[in-house]
Amino acid sequence: MTDRIPLLIDTDPGVDDALALLMAFNSRQHELLGLCITAGNVGLDYTTANALKLCEVAGVTVPVYPGCDRPLVFAAEDASYVHGRDGFGDIGYEPAQRRPESEHAALAILRESHAHAGQLLLVTLGPLTNLALAVRLDPTLPERIGRLLVMGGAVTGKGNTSIAAEFNIAFDPEAAAIVFGSFPRIEVVDWEAVLRHGFLHKRFEAWLAAEDPRAGFYDRISRKTRQWAEGKRGEYWHSADALAMMAALYPEHVIEKERHYLHVETAGSQSRGATVVDWLERSGQPAQAEIILTVNQARFEALIQEALGGHI
Ligand code: RIB
Repeated sequence: MTDRIPLLIDTDPGVDDALALLMAFNSRQHELLGLCITAGNVGLDYTTANALKLCEVAGVTVPVYPGCDRPLVFAAEDASYVHGRDGFGDIGYEPAQRRPESEHAALAILRESHAHAGQLLLVTLGPLTNLALAVRLDPTLPERIGRLLVMGGAVTGKGNTSIAAEFNIAFDPEAAAIVFGSFPRIEVVDWEAVLRHGFLHKRFEAWLAAEDPRAGFYDRISRKTRQWAEGKRGEYWHSADALAMMAALYPEHVIEKERHYLHVETAGSQSRGATVVDWLERSGQPAQAEIILTVNQARFEALIQEALGGHI
């Protein structure tokens, strides 16, 4: 086996985070170093417990590092209306046996960046609070990151949390502004790309029929969210974090992307949390955002099926 790519994930599980994590657990090309946990979809206690439980279901024993339990500056609403009060569909699962690490997620990011300097693939699936804190603790962090991929933003202003803002950015815009102002290159999977890569609820339900504990558990935790989504968005379901994880793990399956300057807005009654992209290169600012526009949909769906125990 050639050297595996060191992978660190910052996440706020969350139903779609869970699907992305199952995809990461399933990759033979990556060495998953750990899960850094943030508040976001639901509170930190729940997101940490959910990460530990998913690892147990999947038979994975990577360390889980709790991080920030709130945004850097201003309080924000969670997304429990989507994911359930506990973030995993309120199914009342038996808590995992394993405990989280005592090391803070931001410190784990810094430590692993030194251990794998220049090689680390860092993927964020939630608000950017932990990563922003790590950058403030050590401004040289970006120099040691091989690739950073962020699920977040709405690159032409079609938000899912406010008119213009997507949830991960809107939850902590100050953190996002720090991150997008510190890294010279960030691969971005935004909400609008997610909407272009939906899959039929009916197809997904068939994938959940796989005789595998991962499929069974995911069927249970995702049911509430899938029902909510079907009522709101119709016959296609969307998994933001799964799309981001596919682009992170398999960049060869990215078909179309563009590189532009991206500004995170932190002010304004309607603009706070917006990701403003300089599509026409007017700003003269360095183009730090590599905006992923399309991926290979068939491969995307195949990776999801395999992560649930299906055989393609
Ligand atoms: O806007 C979608 C993002 O917000 C996903 O990461 C989802 O888990 C929520 O955190």
